[in-house]
Amino acid sequence: MTISARIVLLVLLVFHSQLLAISTDLLYDIYPFVRVYKDGRVERFTGTDFVPASIDPTTGAQSKDIEISHNVSARIYLPKNSNKYRKIPLLVYFHGGAFFTGSPFNQVYQNHLNSLVSKANVVAVSVNYRLAPEHPLPVGYEDSWAALKWVISHSKGNANETWLKDYADFGHVYLGGDSAGGNIAHNVAMRVGLDKTDQGIVLDGMFLNSPHFWGKKPIGNENKTKFIKLKRVMESIWIHAYPNSTGLDDPLVNPAKDPNISSLGCKRVLIIEGGNDILKGRGFYYKKSLIKSKWNGVVKVVDVKGEGHDFGIGNSPKAKEMVNHIASFLNQGEV
Ligand SMILES: *[C@@H]1O[C@H](CO)[C@@H](O)[C@H](O)[C@H]1NC(C)=O
Ligand SMILES: *[C@@H]1O[C@H](CO)[C@@H](O)[C@H](O)[C@H]1NC(C)=O
Ligand SMILES: *[C@@H]1O[C@H](CO)[C@@H](O)[C@H](O)[C@H]1NC(C)=O
Ligand SMILES: *[C@@H]1O[C@H](CO)[C@@H](O)[C@H](O)[C@H]1NC(C)=O
Ligand SMILES: *[C@@H]1O[C@H](CO)[C@@H](O)[C@H](O)[C@H]1NC(C)=O
Repeated sequence: MTISARIVLLVLLVFHSQLLAISTDLLYDIYPFVRVYKDGRVERFTGTDFVPASIDPTTGAQSKDIEISHNVSARIYLPKNSNKYRKIPLLVYFHGGAFFTGSPFNQVYQNHLNSLVSKANVVAVSVNYRLAPEHPLPVGYEDSWAALKWVISHSKGNANETWLKDYADFGHVYLGGDSAGGNIAHNVAMRVGLDKTDQGIVLDGMFLNSPHFWGKKPIGNENKTKFIKLKRVMESIWIHAYPNSTGLDDPLVNPAKDPNISSLGCKRVLIIEGGNDILKGRGFYYKKSLIKSKWNGVVKVVDVKGEGHDFGIGNSPKAKEMVNHIASFLNQGEV
């Protein structure tokens, strides 16, 4: 063997043993959301950056960070030229990140929310719920529900956040979210519908941007080849985010299996799907399940050609169009 061949072999051996070391230390890998190691280490590869709350130079929207409880915080937003004498709709928003990563505080969501509140002229609360795997579901659902309850407690004068007390119209409250956050928004709206206590608000509607729904079996015209391709990662996300779940047909991730779905607590639902997203069939399936259940409301799916999963929080021209569409939806425009 020549020297260089020996070097190549050595490099390959070292590389291989490192790969082995990595793979044996690894408990599971859901790149780029999370990698979890046997010693308890957790690595996230996206959604962890922090940008401070600010007055946005482009839109003039203001934001600030607040504590809701020991467990939950939020970034809240007020559009430019807000006026105490003319209250505006209130949006409670849940970010995506596969239940494992993301926050209201990173650049993507800061941009998205600044743009949403400015285009729609709404007050927004972007919820910082706790993440798996340190806090497996249902913690994220509980935190999100606690955040909504705190927000609406302002409608009865039981809390004192001035941006909510002074500017929000509690007769026009909306939920919204993307990907895992869309899943959370749906589940929070289910609780609104099933909760019989007087909430003091009207939940007008909800928009779901590429909502994270799934199930054990392919549905309708879902491409079976693609279903199988995605099955492993979708199962891995759900099983690790919610180890105590009943599985992929848990109504929390497969709302079509929810016997209570007709109780969804709002009357207008807008679902936005990227035309190339393998998950988009689940948005149509969700719509079908709502209609079949005799839920008393209006639901629409917008299928945006050429776009992928969660395109709506980005900067593309079609994402900007979607923000305009949502803005109109939040102002009682058609679904
Ligand atoms: C915070 O969450 C923990 C469990 O994760 C719970 O035991 C505790 O009661 C919560 N605290 C508040 C103030 O909600
Ligand atoms: C809100 O503010 C009022 C007046 O300062 C105070 O009396 C009340 O206790 C506060 N309520 C809460 C829930 O903090
Ligand atoms: C399903 O997806 C595969 C892989 O992307 C593709 O090759 C195939 O043509 C698709 N089938 C249908 C019926 O769309
Ligand atoms: C699963 O449920 C059991 C029994 O309620 C509980 O003891 C355990 O802590 C739960 N595990 C997780 C990861 O939440
Ligand atoms: C349906 O609603 C009832 C009444 O609130 C509740 O007890 C039950 O757990 C719900 N079922 C599911 C699958 O969520």
